[in-house]
Amino acid sequence: MGAEYADPVQPPIRPDRNLALELIRVTEAAAIAAARWSGRGDKIAADGAAVDAMRFVLGAVTMDGVVVIGEGEKDEAPMLYNGEKIGDGRPPLVDVAVDPVDGTRLTALGRNGALAVIALSERGTMFNPGPCFYMKKIAVGPRGRGAVDINASATDNLTELSKRLNKPVQEMGVVILDRPRHDDLVAEVREAGARVISITDGDVAGAIATGWPNSGVDVLLGIGGTPEGVIAAAALKGLGGEIQGVLHADNEDVRRKAEALGYSFTRVLTTDDLVASDDCFFSATAITDGDFLRGVRFYDFGAATQSLVVRSRTGTIRTIETFHRHDKLQEFTTAGF
Ligand code: FBP
Repeated sequence: MGAEYADPVQPPIRPDRNLALELIRVTEAAAIAAARWSGRGDKIAADGAAVDAMRFVLGAVTMDGVVVIGEGEKDEAPMLYNGEKIGDGRPPLVDVAVDPVDGTRLTALGRNGALAVIALSERGTMFNPGPCFYMKKIAVGPRGRGAVDINASATDNLTELSKRLNKPVQEMGVVILDRPRHDDLVAEVREAGARVISITDGDVAGAIATGWPNSGVDVLLGIGGTPEGVIAAAALKGLGGEIQGVLHADNEDVRRKAEALGYSFTRVLTTDDLVASDDCFFSATAITDGDFLRGVRFYDFGAATQSLVVRSRTGTIRTIETFHRHDKLQEFTTAGF
């Protein structure tokens, strides 16, 4: 976003702005704030602390942002609500998706796999989930891109993916959220011979793992949050993977409301439908330990974080370890992170 390259095959005349490098401060702040609540059994407090911290740092980012995916409607969420304007109001004009804690329960219980995440793309390019909380998903990494079809059975997808990845189905790892709604899916995947990697929460991390070398995860299957699906799409764009989704109504009320607004429960939403821009940014900081990032560690001087930042246009992927000197940055500690 910003200055265009003068020639696509030549290096840019001057480097343009990589917003992801500013967003990392946003997810770091949220992760540190949430980590202070890790293992304390209070998911609301963990989420609230992360929201406050995220919003505080977002205010310093030069952008004219609108929250497309936030903490819900304004009445229920005083901050980072859908439609809220964020940033300092100067260009670029962007859509923003936040999940200050993906894995509130994981955080509260001190379990692995919780992330603070944010995704950004050009204004008007992010899918707005509206009232559709759930989406059926299939996500794969770069090598699996184009080999899967959300309307095909799990068995057929595993067969096709096995050919593409050149490894037997028996050696494939399939991430599935541990929910009763997935009992049949789990049975089918096991019957096909693959290994189920069951997660209690946090399917953004599950989707990213498909695009992460040596994670042991080849595909994510099942029904999870739609907001998490959009955020995962931004990440997978940069990682070179793919996600497909079909909205899922868990009750008739949601279906009726959503259909009246024009949402379809049969249309396949591709990665590009979820984030219709090739210039999107993603940042995630681990709150608790995960497959590809270590969670927040506190020290006498402050805290250490590990983050993943991705930009889709260049495909640059960075993992960044940061040492936060809270002994020096007093204003940060008074702000709560
Ligand atoms: P929160 O931490 O925001 O509660 O979300 C956790 C999560 O596991 C997501 O990663 C996932 O997409 C969604 O919840 C699944 O929803 P549900 O728990 O209702 O099945």
